[in-house]
Parts: sequence; structure tokens; C-alpha cells
Amino acid sequence: MKKNKKLAVFASGNGSNFQAIVDAVYSGELDAELSLLVCDKPGAYAIERANNAGIPRFVFEAKAYASKEAFEKEMIAHLKSADVDFIVLAGYMRLIGSTLLNEYEGRIVNIHPSLLPAFPGKDAIGQALTAGVSETGVTVHFVDEGMDTGPIIAQKRVDIEENETLESLQAKIHAVEHRLYPAVLQKLLTQGEMTYGKKESVN
Ligand code: GAR
Repeated sequence: MKKNKKLAVFASGNGSNFQAIVDAVYSGELDAELSLLVCDKPGAYAIERANNAGIPRFVFEAKAYASKEAFEKEMIAHLKSADVDFIVLAGYMRLIGSTLLNEYEGRIVNIHPSLLPAFPGKDAIGQALTAGVSETGVTVHFVDEGMDTGPIIAQKRVDIEENETLESLQAKIHAVEHRLYPAVLQKLLTQGEMTYGKKESVN
């Protein structure tokens, strides 16, 4: 029998996407092992979620290190000792540096709350509302050195209604994210059919 891949999830805040991945592993929807939570915000609720699920965590503060290279080197030591195969960014609000990218090339994915390349960076949901567009969505993509720029794996559209508020749009986007991310990870990790740069259709 094939061995399940070991995942590290990176989060900076609430961690609702992390929770969706935890739940998908427990329900059997996602054949993977959750080996580590990496979190750069000591007060983040994602840490409590890891504790509740019994998942080891590496929590750090960037300002305690001399450079990104320095904290990424320590991160890599934790990732290696947990035998991590694949990195899943889930609301990790920090660019990945070359130290970590070189070590896990082609094995880091991210979820972003817009139809990239539209609205990269912070507050993508607010950006879409301010722009007055009639649809936005969710993108899962491989991570490169840019800000939300790597090859797209899957996208899902979300309509923006006339009377949409930030809260209502956030809720719709999160609901889509929580279904899409585990499903994409399952395909990526177990079927190996989505290789670097190959894109699923938008629907
Ligand atoms: C999610 O909507 C995710 O797509 C977004 O942060 C949120 C985290 O929510 N990520 C980005 O904007 C990355 N550029 P969560 O902590 O509840 O999963």
C-alpha cells in the first residue's frame, strides 16, 4: 500500500482552512498525514486548532531572527525532523524566501481568495469589492518567489451580488475555500495528475 504524504500547513491567523484540511484528513476525504503546523503569530487561533487536533507545531516570530534566511533554516530543520513531503500555505501572510523554496521546490502550494492574476496580495476580497467587479473567486497555485504568482492548479468562481458586503463575500469565499482546498490536495497528492503548471478549468 502507498504511504500517505506528510504535510506541513503554514498559517498566520484564524486557520479555518487549516481546520478544513484537518477535518478532511479525519473524515478520510484527504489521504495525508498532518505532521506540522508552522505559524508566525504566537497568538493565532490556528495554534489552538493544532493543539486540539494533536498536531505538532513550530511557532516563531520573524523579528526574533536576523533574516528570513535564518528563520527559514530553522523551519527546514523542523520540517525535516517531521519528515514533511509537502507544504500547504493556508493564510500564511508572508512571502516564501529562496532558502525554503530551494528545499521544497514544486512542493509548496497556496490558496488565495481571488481569481488570480486579479487581486494578488493582502485583502483580496476587499480589493474585489472596491473594484466593483461582478465575480471573484478562489485560486490554488504552486508557490514561487513572487506574491501570489506561481502556476495555477485550480480556480473556482464566486458571484458578487448587488448588495454584497465584505462579511457576506468573505463567508462565501471561505465556504468555497474549505471545499476546494482539501479536494485539490487529494488529487495532487494521490493521483499526481496535476503537475507543475497544469491547470484545472474554472467553474
Ligand atoms: C484565506 O481566505 C486565504 O485564502 C487568505 O487568507 C485567508 C485565511 O483564512 N490567504 C491570502 O490572502 C494569501 N495571500 P483562514 O486563516 O481562516 O484559513
